[in-house]
Amino acid sequence: MSKLVTIVGGSGFVGRYIARRLAKDGWRVRVACRRPNEALFTRTYGAVGQVEPIFCNIRDDGSVRAALAGADAAVNCVGTFDAGGANNFQAVQVAGAGRIARLAAAGGVSTLVHISSLSADPAALSNYSRTKAEGEAAVLAAFPKAMILRPSVIFGNEDQFFNRFAGMSRIGPILPLVGGNTRFQPVFVEDVAQAAVLGADGKASGIYALGGPDAETLSHFIQQMLVVIQRRRLVLNLPFWVGKVLANGFGFGSFLTGGLIRNSILTADQVRSLRVDNVVPPGAKTLADLGIAPTNIGAVIPEYLWRYRPSGQYAAIKDSAKNLRKV
Ligand SMILES: NC(=O)c1ccc[n+]([C@@H]2O[C@H](COP(=O)([O-])OP(=O)(O)OC[C@H]3O[C@@H](n4cnc5c(N)ncnc54)[C@H](OP(=O)(O)O)[C@@H]3O)[C@@H](O)[C@H]2O)c1
Repeated sequence: MSKLVTIVGGSGFVGRYIARRLAKDGWRVRVACRRPNEALFTRTYGAVGQVEPIFCNIRDDGSVRAALAGADAAVNCVGTFDAGGANNFQAVQVAGAGRIARLAAAGGVSTLVHISSLSADPAALSNYSRTKAEGEAAVLAAFPKAMILRPSVIFGNEDQFFNRFAGMSRIGPILPLVGGNTRFQPVFVEDVAQAAVLGADGKASGIYALGGPDAETLSHFIQQMLVVIQRRRLVLNLPFWVGKVLANGFGFGSFLTGGLIRNSILTADQVRSLRVDNVVPPGAKTLADLGIAPTNIGAVIPEYLWRYRPSGQYAAIKDSAKNLRKV
């Protein structure tokens, strides 16, 4: 019988890449999330019955225990940017993370991979970053041999980084940025997934800071993206106080609608975390320690950002037609 892994949050951006890799390696995969009906696409990653989306809410002991029953490995890919509601920072990133580790240890799960963040810091002003650090502590207290991955911002087909800014650049000639001078080290989602697979296999444990080959400012990456999507835009670097006013405005709009319209643009907590560089610190264990060569942004983003070009998939044909006219 092949081994069984439970990937909590396996339907999300990062989780699906881990699910696909583990299924390819022959694991039976449980994709555990709150809306398994929206995770049916993961079934195609393996043979019939090999990948099974199941219901799980990490805010509930019974549900997590059932999701982990009989599993050899567990991966936790659940995180949130939501300060309010039931699925808040504390419930998901601290209590939920600790619950998975505690029940995995009690249930005899051999390996646990926990996805944290490069910004994790117990002294951070941002609740996201502080609760990520508290979550790590809760995981290690219950499951000391867990692998903890701390990625910088992650890029790939379904990312919320390049896709978001590329989408905004279609709206008008000005692209406003908060934290334009803050440094990031974007890491490719497949590299993160490869690291997680090593942890699930029991070939690596401990804490790893994951970054790509380039550590540059946010403005630099946005300019690189604009070249790829062939759009000239004025990148306007807003001061943090303007970012805070905007974020509070979006938050108030959400409050006025009773939460019906959620603020997924910019939150006050994100503004706080944007003040701090998000790059691999010196001395940390990295992708290189796992034998993984980090993938270059330039090699990947043209593969999925073409849809934001003025002529979409026809941009290349249009360019070559222009040259024909010159002949
Ligand atoms: N994306 C990045 O750039 C980035 C950078 C650094 C760190 N990280 C961390 O990496 C991890 C994965 O991020 P991601 O971008 O893949 O997130 P994502 O796309 O938002 O996916 C989150 C997943 O968690 C599930 N989920 C949410 N709440 C849950 C709950 N209460 N119980 C069970 N499942 C729940 C979601 O499915 P349902 O909604 O159906 O439950 C979904 O499958 C997170 O911990 C995040 O903080 C991400």
